[in-house]
Amino acid sequence: QARPRPLVAGNWKMNGLKLSARVFASIAQGYDAALRKKLDILVCPPATLTVTFGVVAVGSGVAVGGQDCHVEAAGAHTGDISAVQLADAGATYVIVGHSERRADHGETDAVVRAKALAAREACLTPVVCVGETRAQRESGDALAIVRAQLAGSLPETADRHDLVVAYEPVWAIGTGLTAMPPQVAEVHAAIRDVLTARYGDEGAAIRILYGGSVKPDNAFDLLSVANVDGALVGGASLDAADFLAIAEYY
Ligand code: G3P
Repeated sequence: QARPRPLVAGNWKMNGLKLSARVFASIAQGYDAALRKKLDILVCPPATLTVTFGVVAVGSGVAVGGQDCHVEAAGAHTGDISAVQLADAGATYVIVGHSERRADHGETDAVVRAKALAAREACLTPVVCVGETRAQRESGDALAIVRAQLAGSLPETADRHDLVVAYEPVWAIGTGLTAMPPQVAEVHAAIRDVLTARYGDEGAAIRILYGGSVKPDNAFDLLSVANVDGALVGGASLDAADFLAIAEYY
């Protein structure tokens, strides 16, 4: 089985102003023919910049995504944004179930699954995030937690085009700590097993990203691990040169 086409994704979180379109333009410019042959690139800016980045992205091949979506397509939900609205603004992907959403907004696995389904209804590819906390890792429960999150968060059916999974150990997010390659290998293999058990051959082709303090200087170690099909990059995606340097691993 050939390896899935890699995806390097940037999650800008609550960072970026209109001026940041310059950074995004550098990323788009750096995504040259050589890189385009090898991998997909996605940037998920805050919702305020979706349209701007979408315009800058035209013709570059860089995809733009949301960081969250509501479970409904429209309605009385002050402050929320629907998948339909993200698609209308130019997004083609949306992150769902990021640990910061799970922690800050009490999102359960069932909510995350509903968001993934809402994303697909709107023709967006959901990037479903899972990952254990430090306490869960230390008590030896990492695999069980990730399996339970997958069981509760993944859609019933999926193929390689309409689902991406991201493993982000919570203790490695924004901390400068990264999981060791053997830890990443173990969790990614477990995720692959779940995906193939659930989706058959398509499960083998669904991309599994690693996230958590991915930087240019650790990209090689992390991205060369089996079943790691790309990265979900936070802090380092705010710098065009760093983000592109991570993509250059491929
Ligand atoms: O979604 C990406 C993220 O949570 C990782 O953030 O800053 O550790 O790369 P960071």
